[in-house]
Amino acid sequence: MIDKQKRKDTSLIFKRQFFDVKAQEYLPISADELLSQHLLITGVTGSGKSSTALTIIEELKKNQQNVIVLDPTGEFRTIPNVQRIVLGDDGFFDVTHLTSDQIAHLLNITDKSLLANLPAAIESLQIQNNVVAKPGIYKKINRSQIEHDNLVEQLKIKDKYFDLSLLANQLQEEYITPYVDERADFSLLGQIYDKEAIAKAWSSLAQLKQTLKNKQIRTLLLRSTKQEIVHYDVDYLLRLFITRRATKQSLIIDLSLFSHEQKLNQVLVEILTLQMMSIAKLNGLSFPVTIFIDEAHRYLSNDGHGNYGIFSLIREGRKLGLDLMLSTQSPLDVPVELLGQFGSFIVQRLNTRNEMKNLLIIKEDLIDQVAHLATGEALLKTIGRQELKKVKVELSTISHQTENIPFGL
Ligand SMILES: Nc1ncnc2c1ncn2[C@@H]1O[C@H](COP(=O)(O)OP(=O)(O)OP(=O)(O)O)[C@@H](O)[C@H]1O
Ligand SMILES: [Mg+2]
Repeated sequence: MIDKQKRKDTSLIFKRQFFDVKAQEYLPISADELLSQHLLITGVTGSGKSSTALTIIEELKKNQQNVIVLDPTGEFRTIPNVQRIVLGDDGFFDVTHLTSDQIAHLLNITDKSLLANLPAAIESLQIQNNVVAKPGIYKKINRSQIEHDNLVEQLKIKDKYFDLSLLANQLQEEYITPYVDERADFSLLGQIYDKEAIAKAWSSLAQLKQTLKNKQIRTLLLRSTKQEIVHYDVDYLLRLFITRRATKQSLIIDLSLFSHEQKLNQVLVEILTLQMMSIAKLNGLSFPVTIFIDEAHRYLSNDGHGNYGIFSLIREGRKLGLDLMLSTQSPLDVPVELLGQFGSFIVQRLNTRNEMKNLLIIKEDLIDQVAHLATGEALLKTIGRQELKKVKVELSTISHQTENIPFGL
């Protein structure tokens, strides 16, 4: 649990980042006031959300605060002196740290019978890789139940890594049954393949084989076998940046290689946020870590699917010392029950009354003002203050890649 007193003693003040438009002077705001009950930055595209976040991040960095950025488009690649990884390129998830549900989501396995067999198939591959210690799949047909139980027992104290590229083949091996006549031997795992069941799952198995051949998916989920390639284990880096005062305080996780696949993007963010939570829970932080999720509308869905990681970070992260800074184009993207969990708001230009009304802090008399905010201007509301202040956010000295892709000639 975070030591509040410790935070207060070392309190960081944003002194020249927010200019009070009415008072015509800088408005000093402490990092605790702005961030410790989560900050929502909202505004239409181009209103200045990412720039505002960058200004905050730069100041946190200058003051040796740990920051983790989930960058959906790679636009934060210009921040100097950071640890940056690109998922699916030089950053990977070690399957050892993933649940079978997460693997199913990442590989888009939806077939019910494949899902039912998935935990067993994973365990089989783990046995083959770490106990049997041979390449290939784990053959189950005609294997005795006792021998199998023995191998499962041995697996308990072994590494759990496995060769994910064999998953489709192993899944097929799981469809075994005893003979249905007097030859049935129930001391064996199975004697014949359940051909009917395999045939039913065939197209899903073929699809899975295709997915497992995808280069980015392989780079995302398989340990690199090439010595010369630097391949970072995301879980290891998260652990480092959440539990230690790193020399490079910021970890940028670039998700841009998967930006065109919304569902996969949601799953990635779900896994990342849940891993952050579990690391913080296990280790107990002695300093706050600010997590910035830019363009959260990409990951939040109103049907509730894929929100769980962000939800739990918002609900429980604060107690653990994980402060969330979320940016999104419209307040309507954030489910109402979550809006109430934010203590601070930076409201940049918004176009519709409906969006503004969703933010309960924007009352009728402010609607016109919010609609006419210039780029980089915002209404600021923090936990400590009742009233909203109109501020101009100072541009960071670091630039980020905001240009649209130019038309080539
Ligand atoms: N505080 C500011 N002062 C001056 N210019 C700014 C400020 N904030 C943003 N800008 C300029 O406005 C442009 C858009 O800003 P930014 O990319 O931060 O917007 P955004 O809200 O993140 O947009 P999107 O939703 O498309 O990501 C940039 O070119 C940036 O330089
Ligand atoms: Mg942006």
